Amino acid sequence: MKEGIDYLANPNSVEKVVLLYSGGLDTSCMVKWIQEQYDADVVTLTIDLGQPGVDLQKAKEKALDQGAESAFVIDAKEEFAKDYVSKAIKANGLYQEKYPLSTAIARYLKCKKAVEVAKKVDADAIAHGATGKGNDQVRFEAGIMSLDPDLKLLAPVRQWSMTRDKEIEYAEKHGIDVEAEKGSPYSTDENLWGKSSECGPLEYPDKEPPGDVFQFVNLPEEAPEEPAEISITFEEGVPTALNGEEMQLHSLVEELNSIAGKHGVGIIDMMEDRVVGLKSREIYECPAATAIIEAHKDLEKYVSTKHENSFKKYADKKWAEMAYSGLWFDPLMHHLNSLVDSMNSNVSGKVYLKLYKGSAQVIGRESEEGLYNHQLASYGEGETFNQEASPGFIQLWSLQTKMKGGEHGSLGD
Ligand code: ARG
Repeated sequence: MKEGIDYLANPNSVEKVVLLYSGGLDTSCMVKWIQEQYDADVVTLTIDLGQPGVDLQKAKEKALDQGAESAFVIDAKEEFAKDYVSKAIKANGLYQEKYPLSTAIARYLKCKKAVEVAKKVDADAIAHGATGKGNDQVRFEAGIMSLDPDLKLLAPVRQWSMTRDKEIEYAEKHGIDVEAEKGSPYSTDENLWGKSSECGPLEYPDKEPPGDVFQFVNLPEEAPEEPAEISITFEEGVPTALNGEEMQLHSLVEELNSIAGKHGVGIIDMMEDRVVGLKSREIYECPAATAIIEAHKDLEKYVSTKHENSFKKYADKKWAEMAYSGLWFDPLMHHLNSLVDSMNSNVSGKVYLKLYKGSAQVIGRESEEGLYNHQLASYGEGETFNQEASPGFIQLWSLQTKMKGGEHGSLGD
């Protein structure tokens, strides 16, 4: 409602709002709050992205109980894997080299679905549950405006300035069931690509996260004593089989989450730079993402030239920064995805990993596209590399270094 920012909805200026609704405390309060404060109808949209342990049907009933005009529940796991996770894998998507962007990439799918539902029900605004301190507000608002600039946006949590206790009070007053929320001090977000946890004891970066944060992953010290060996098959950069069994990507990721999670793989504790300038301490559990990206990077190294390998990390880094920062729908993302697709066109083969007490270590790889040649590389019988050619190469390779060099180069004594 700030003057001059014309994409935000004003009370009484919108008639129907699509609310991105998880069924958690914030978005449950919003169903009522938007009706009260904006005098608008509310249509909720809940999207199944493989968040375990969430009863989406119950969430739907809860929304209708609070007076939602209608409540959509969409299963988008397959689409999420196919159009978002697969791109992240091809780009080895890790923000600040650590975070597999699980929350981030899911936000863009939510933007797309919300815009689709808004068209279908003829809504003029979309509401989300992100706060004013995080990245998600940027992703939702930049994303939705890029997809449909006519839609207005509402960010109730940013506006209502209720503390958590006040929200619980508000919810109880309106008969919203909040028992599940009361117990946990954490703010979480999860989908099949990973789980993010913030708040409560995690806000003290010097302290180890309490064990009760972890849901996807066993602590390494509690993981089995026996390692597990697995294989991931890739076709054009995307996993297509786990241990030789072909599966759709979303099923493969879910299956691998449970195997790698059991072995303590994928706990990430990082100091992260948010788009809005804050530095925050984040805890992620991304077992499948960690193992897959590790394997994918290894296979790329095997099949790509030295020049491709040295360049790819720059494209990957930019991809991750764009995906993190709310700019998924910028044309640069399209160009980067084309490049990354092209560079993955021969990233096909199989990678073997050993999962053991928190580590996912590559122990072997094979590919018809591999540039490794045993006869060339071997020191054994029948080697074919012409060692006599090496001195000529070194002569030219070192030409300028020899002319200007010395222990400290030309700057030395
Ligand atoms: N910092 C992460 C990101 O910006 C995760 C945010 C997820 N939100 C949460 N409530 N845990 O992508």
